Amino acid sequence: MSRTAEGPVRVVVIGGGAIGASVVASLLRGDLPGVVPVAVVDGQPVGDLGVPQLRLDAALDLADVVVECAGQAVVAQRAVDILERGIDLLITSVGALADADLATAIRVAGPGRFLLTAGAIGGLDILSSAAAQGPLTRVEVTTTKLPTTLVQPWMDDHDADLLRVATEPVEVFRGNAREATRLFPRSLNVAATLGWVAGDFDLVDVRLVADPAAELTCHRVVAEGVAGRYTFEIQNLPSPDNPRTSGVVPHAVLRSLAALVGRPSGVI
Ligand SMILES: NC(=O)c1ccc[n+]([C@@H]2O[C@H](COP(=O)([O-])OP(=O)(O)OC[C@H]3O[C@@H](n4cnc5c(N)ncnc54)[C@H](O)[C@@H]3O)[C@@H](O)[C@H]2O)c1
Repeated sequence: MSRTAEGPVRVVVIGGGAIGASVVASLLRGDLPGVVPVAVVDGQPVGDLGVPQLRLDAALDLADVVVECAGQAVVAQRAVDILERGIDLLITSVGALADADLATAIRVAGPGRFLLTAGAIGGLDILSSAAAQGPLTRVEVTTTKLPTTLVQPWMDDHDADLLRVATEPVEVFRGNAREATRLFPRSLNVAATLGWVAGDFDLVDVRLVADPAAELTCHRVVAEGVAGRYTFEIQNLPSPDNPRTSGVVPHAVLRSLAALVGRPSGVI
């Protein structure tokens, strides 16, 4: 559906959980002038978020922009269709793009445009610029989270229990960003975003540490390339609504949305 130049930008949010509900609330408050939420789409009843909950196809008929805050499956199943309808798409579940075929399909799909939110980390601006100057040769990220947030459906009872009762930091994964986002799809979007910026998910060396003392979720990033050497550490408080997600992420999504609709502000 095409937007008239003078009308507001109509946003559909897929996923009315910790990130999506916060994004809808901000847009309803008018935090992004000229951008209005028109519907939320969710596989579960989300309660009253102040906009109607619709099925995806009905919601897409109303959308200029879709904000995905639901999970990798939605990106895999619907991103190309959304872009082909001429709807712009903001992706939070960046791990979906570790699938090289899907990433290619999304890159070439249109006329809708897509953006990935920086989400829980910063520094991606300089890393993107550095990668444009010449390939990054080293990217490492060590992510430290509360153990209970890292329990996965594929873990056997023994491994899951080890995490639940951990009293010391435990390394639960070491490998590349492609494998990391497959095994920890809701917890390692940061690794995937670094993979996208580097242009190589296999280059990114990911270490995931479960630490019962980790009140803050920590991402320590080291990157190197012809442009220079970069080290930064991000420590975020978990969202009160979902301890897997950092509380800052909805605010990152709003900044990304502002850029996508052509109204960026501040530092970019
Ligand atoms: N880029 C980042 O830094 C970053 C950080 C945190 C989370 N994320 C991504 O954002 C997603 C949402 O995070 P959250 O904390 O809001 O999660 P959440 O679990 O609080 O909410 C997710 C919502 O999406 C809904 N949902 C799941 N699958 C769906 C589907 N196929 N169709 C429609 N609705 C569906 C769920 O019912 C739930 O209400 C995560 O899955 C993760 O992939 C990205």
